[in-house]
Amino acid sequence: MGVIRAVVKGCGHYLPERVVENEEFAKTLDTSDEWIRARTGIERRHFAAEGQKTSDLAYEAATNALKNAGMTGDDLDTIILATATPDQTFPSTATRLQHAIGMTGGFAFDIQAVCAGFIYALANATALIESGHAKTVMIVGAETFSRIIDFTDRGTCVLFGDGAGALILQAETGDGTGDDRGVLSTDLNSDGKYNDLLYVDGGVSSTQSTGLLRMQGQEVFKHAVSKLASSGETALKLAGLSAEDIDWIVPHQANLRIIKRTAKKMNVSMDKVVVTVQDHGNTSAASIPLALSVAVKKGQIKTGDLLLVEAIGGGLAWGAAVLRW
Ligand code: UT7
Repeated sequence: MGVIRAVVKGCGHYLPERVVENEEFAKTLDTSDEWIRARTGIERRHFAAEGQKTSDLAYEAATNALKNAGMTGDDLDTIILATATPDQTFPSTATRLQHAIGMTGGFAFDIQAVCAGFIYALANATALIESGHAKTVMIVGAETFSRIIDFTDRGTCVLFGDGAGALILQAETGDGTGDDRGVLSTDLNSDGKYNDLLYVDGGVSSTQSTGLLRMQGQEVFKHAVSKLASSGETALKLAGLSAEDIDWIVPHQANLRIIKRTAKKMNVSMDKVVVTVQDHGNTSAASIPLALSVAVKKGQIKTGDLLLVEAIGGGLAWGAAVLRW
């Protein structure tokens, strides 16, 4: 019997022009290129120019995705934009993007699940498509974390970068098997008792200011490996597939050590893992769509490949999804 699947029709990404190498941090902080590379795998990251907003990055990524899909803004019913660094408290950055790409109908909204935001957006887009509420959905992860970094805290400021990635999903009829193209399963989780491990020390209703990012890195690290592996396994089980079926893991790009340990825990070899953290740093909700788009452009990910995507971040919020490209 035929089932509705959310199938990828195109993707795109954008990175701001300014590249910041690890050495730049060593000029003002007690840190080094060696420490950052060894502990995180990060070599460089991109920072948005002065005045360049999250919606500007999202616009470039969205335009590239539309071009890749051979579509215009008016071919979309819905935009879901995942960000923890919106242009303004309101309106949503998604509605700014909607207008910028010339989309005159449908609806657009933001999702806030920090680094897991793209997985949450993917799950919501899939639900809208599978339930018949939308036919064509663009999901975007876009962030300007350089705006909320404490540049005096060496434990966090070297980790993050700015960027955006976008994916267009469209309803297609599948057979209801693991051979179908499209999103085959999603698994979302959060646990608010871990709020204090990774947060921004400001906000509209608390301090009436933006605040800066604070993280207990080691604690987040410990949760990351176990929660990502277990969510990945749940998503595979829900899809009726196993780790041997995976062509590519496309993980959240926070730390190469987390990426390696999670892959090992899942028994997937590193030559099946897309890694971009060395060039992008941690771009929060943008990291997975950026990695997807880069891997497609490089010819790594091809039509028909089975992908596992997984992410964890502030909340804690985490999740995974299985999709056939
Ligand atoms: O995207 C959301 C999810 N976030 C993550 O997944 C991040 C998870 N956490 C991590 O990736 C790692 O915990 C970090 C990269 C943040 C830190 O690495 P670590 O191996 O856990 O280091 P640590 O925090 O245990 O610090 C070890 C030492 C400390 O010095 P002492 O106390 O041993 O003297 C730190 O002060 O390294 C020091 N340190 C640094 N040294 C040079 C911390 N940051 C730096 C730095 N340069 N940038």
